[in-house]
Order: sequence, then C-alpha cells, then structure tokens
Amino acid sequence: MMPEPIIATTFTLPDEALALLRVVGAVAGPDGWRDALAEAQALLCLLTDRVDTALLERAPRLRVVANAVVGYEHVDVAACRARGIVVTNTPDVLTGATADLTWALILAAVRRLPQAERSLRAGEFRGWGFWDYLGGDLEGRTLGILGMGRIGRAVARRAGGFGMRVVYHSRTALPGDDERALGAERVDFDDLLARSDVLSLHAPLTPETRHTIGRDALRRMRPGSVLINTARGALVDEAALADALREGPLSAAGIDVYEHEPAVHPGLLDLGNVVLLPHIGSATRGTRTEMAMLAARNVHAVLAGRPPVTPVPLAR
Ligand code: NAP
Ligand code: GLV
Repeated sequence: MMPEPIIATTFTLPDEALALLRVVGAVAGPDGWRDALAEAQALLCLLTDRVDTALLERAPRLRVVANAVVGYEHVDVAACRARGIVVTNTPDVLTGATADLTWALILAAVRRLPQAERSLRAGEFRGWGFWDYLGGDLEGRTLGILGMGRIGRAVARRAGGFGMRVVYHSRTALPGDDERALGAERVDFDDLLARSDVLSLHAPLTPETRHTIGRDALRRMRPGSVLINTARGALVDEAALADALREGPLSAAGIDVYEHEPAVHPGLLDLGNVVLLPHIGSATRGTRTEMAMLAARNVHAVLAGRPPVTPVPLAR
C-alpha cells in the first residue's frame, strides 16, 4: 500500500479543514512542521512563513504550497514554479473583513477616536464641550485608492455610504460599467496624491510598489490629508511617514501593517495622530475559518490530481 501523502501545516487548522485534508493525506504540524518537510507533498502556511529556496530544498516532494492569506510576497513563486510546485492563496473570502477594517481605521483616524478614548480614560472628560475632541469630515471629501483590486473596490463601495467621492490609481482601468457603479474616477499617481483627502493603500507588495509612499510622495499629498495602510507595510517609508505626521502635510494616519513586522517604527509609536493596529485586517472568526478552508480545498484539489481552486496569478 502507498503511504499517505504528508500535509505539513505551520498553523492550527479548524476541524472542518482537518477533516477535508484527512481525506487526501496525513496532517503534520503545527508542532514539528519543519521536520515533516522532508516527506511533505503539501504545505499550508501563512505570511509569517518565508517559503524560499532554502525551505524548498528541504521539501523535495512538495506539490503544493497553500498560502492561507491573499498576499504572497513571502513565497518565492518563481522558485516553486521551476520545481513544478503549485502556489495558491485566499482571495475574495477576506475582502469584506479587510474593507471593513479599512473603514474602521478611516473613521478612527479622521475622528481621532483613540485620542478621545485615551483622554476619557485619563479622567479628562468633564462633560460635553462644544469645541472638544474635534475631528475631520468625510462627507463631500475625496477618498483615493491605490490598487483598485478586490479590497480596493470593496472599500470604494463602502465610500458611497459616507458621501465621499472616489478616485483611484491602478495600472489597469476598471471596465466603464464598474467605474460607474462605484462612482470612481481613474487618475494618475500624481493626481491621486494631490486630490485625496484620505488615501487608502490596497496594492500588493512587489518590487514596483515598495516605498511607493516615500518622502517625495508624502510631500505631494494634500495638507491635512490622512493615509490609511491595510495592504503591506513596505509600501510606505515609515520613517518618512513619521516625519509627515509630525511636520505635515498629513494630519493623521491609520496603519495595520508594518515594514518590519512585528517591529513598529519608533517614530510612529511616539505620535498621537496615528492609529496603530497589529495586522488584523482579516481577523474575524468567520473569515479566518474561510481562509483556512480555502487553503485546505486547494491542497485537497492538488493532491486529488485536480487543478487548484485559487492559484496565484502569473506575474505581469
Ligand atoms: P488584488 O485584487 O490583486 O488587488 C490589488 C490591486 O493592486 C490590483 O487591482 C492591481 O491592479 C493593483 N496594483 C498592482 N500593482 C500596482 C502598482 N504598481 N500600482 C498601482 N496598483 C497596482 O488584491 P486584494 O485581494 O485586493 O489584496 C490587496 C493586498 O491587500 C494584498 O496583496 C495584501 O498584501 C493586502 N491584504 C492585507 C490584509 C490585512 O490583514 N491587512 C488582508 C488582506 C489583504 P493592476 O494590476 O491593474 O495595477
Ligand atoms: C493578509 O495580510 C493577507 O495578505 O491576507
């Protein structure tokens, strides 16, 4: 009898994902997952696991790397493809949760919620004050979106409820019908910076997008504008961001992701006008379960000899 394929997992899976995987193999991990690599035909992993040539050399039998998040900059996709290994991710199932968290950050940063809450806890709330705890407005202002993909579009859809205009920049234009449905106007990068009252980042981290929001771009943003980043930390030069929050032009920022996670630039930690979250864009119980299930479905498909459900796209 052929031995069962080994499926290594770097994280704890929900019971329904384990049940699906056990139809096609034996699950090893999360404890000792590295030791299981020598025999593993599948690997379920997260954005904190670097899948590079060193790891691949220790896993000569791998057929599929099922990355249980949507971003995949931590996986050497070219090296996997060269070895015939399928790489998958988890698009769509986390789009709504991440768009909601983006809006939580927009509202928290613009209305200065953490400052108000800290003040109340410090005993400074002495009753309703006409000029106290003032934030900015959203209605009639412009939301800029860098990277109008699944999450960018979901954030744009929610903007209608807040009465905001939407401008966006992506390399590809949306079909005209989609632009009309979202009420979104495609602009070039300079216009995006010049017109956004709130600029929200939703592009993947690639060599092209690293430090897109650097010192020069920050200088060209609107006075008093707000930067939101729920994409990847390295899209932004964090040292330059801290300077732009201290000296202008930014009035506030809302950040979920960092250049060198879990480290946060000390210049940001020192500032009161930036809301800092610990990379929780997709962190709802339902969404994380769906992400694990989709990763499991990808492994199940490949080990059963079928095409993967959600392979990562070819680089363009
Ligand atoms: P997606 O559907 O692939 O959207 C990404 C968009 O970025 C695409 O529309 C793409 O359009 C655009 N883009 C790519 N390169 C660009 C460039 N150089 N300049 C401008 N736009 C560019 O991905 P998604 O599902 O929306 O996810 C987006 C990112 O969010 C992920 O890659 C991940 O890093 C991050 N994320 C974070 C969390 C969190 O927990 N905070 C959760 C989920 C996702 P074009 O190719 O036409 O330019
Ligand atoms: C989370 O950051 C993801 O890429 O899914």
